[in-house]
Amino acid sequence: MSEGVRLDPHARVAYDDFAPFYDAFTAGHDYEAWTRDLEALAREAGLRGRRLLDVACGSGKSFLPFLERGYAVTACDISPAMAGLAAAKAQGRARVEVHDMRELPRLGEFDLVLCLDDAVNYLLDRVELGAALAGMRRNLAPGGIAIFDANCLHTYRSAFATLSVVPSDDLVIVWRGETSPGLEPGGRGAATTQVLRRAPPGGWVETAQRHLQRHHPESAVRGAAGAAGLRLACVRGMRSDGSFHAAVDELRCSKVVYVATAADQDQSPGTGTRGT
Ligand SMILES: C[S@@+](CC[C@H](N)C(=O)[O-])C[C@H]1O[C@@H](n2cnc3c(N)ncnc32)[C@H](O)[C@@H]1O
Repeated sequence: MSEGVRLDPHARVAYDDFAPFYDAFTAGHDYEAWTRDLEALAREAGLRGRRLLDVACGSGKSFLPFLERGYAVTACDISPAMAGLAAAKAQGRARVEVHDMRELPRLGEFDLVLCLDDAVNYLLDRVELGAALAGMRRNLAPGGIAIFDANCLHTYRSAFATLSVVPSDDLVIVWRGETSPGLEPGGRGAATTQVLRRAPPGGWVETAQRHLQRHHPESAVRGAAGAAGLRLACVRGMRSDGSFHAAVDELRCSKVVYVATAADQDQSPGTGTRGT
């Protein structure tokens, strides 16, 4: 981002408050299976080494399976509270820092750069998206692979437009989708998470966090990736059952998964520079 631009901290504000409840809210997400499938896509695109940078790592769910697979992990998030949870889970086995991906410094040289679970949708315009993709490019080792996902229109018109509840005895998380069920491509989506916690001796405490997102159409992502020096090696539609599809159907898929290499490198499988 150009100097002097004030970056809206909406995602940090939301996630600093929501951090203690994030894992309960996402308990049903199978990161072991998802990250295996993503790793397979990365290998098809030429991934060789095991140096991982997880951008917008949240509470660590997106990098923990890679730690177990022997990757050397560096991770960062805009939210100190989320990064703190991730660092605690890593127990010293990962380097976890606080960074805004809109001005991501060069943290090293990585064979795999990830930015998962709709983190790029918290970037509210194409300038921010472009800055984040340039930051990922900046951290790629020669032959490295970047993978990120973005929510489809279907997700905004369904989950982001309806009410859902994750209940338990002492904690109730309400997801209140506040997006138009007819959201147009490239439009903004919003939701509020409302957290109700039982507070002895018999009361409840309530907090709320607002999640602001933008739908990034594939054409916008392709433009931003090209301008950031990335070449898209593979684009897949992902359905809510986790399956990948060559055809991206914005009205049936939940996410689009983008697999990218540096634009200025020959990235055909087998030609990538081997990392450690
Ligand atoms: C839905 S969570 C996903 C976290 C993790 N990647 C996962 O898969 O569990 C989105 C994360 O993006 C982070 N985030 C949003 N905007 C960011 C930014 N500009 N820079 C870095 N992190 C950001 C949030 O703090 C949050 O932890």
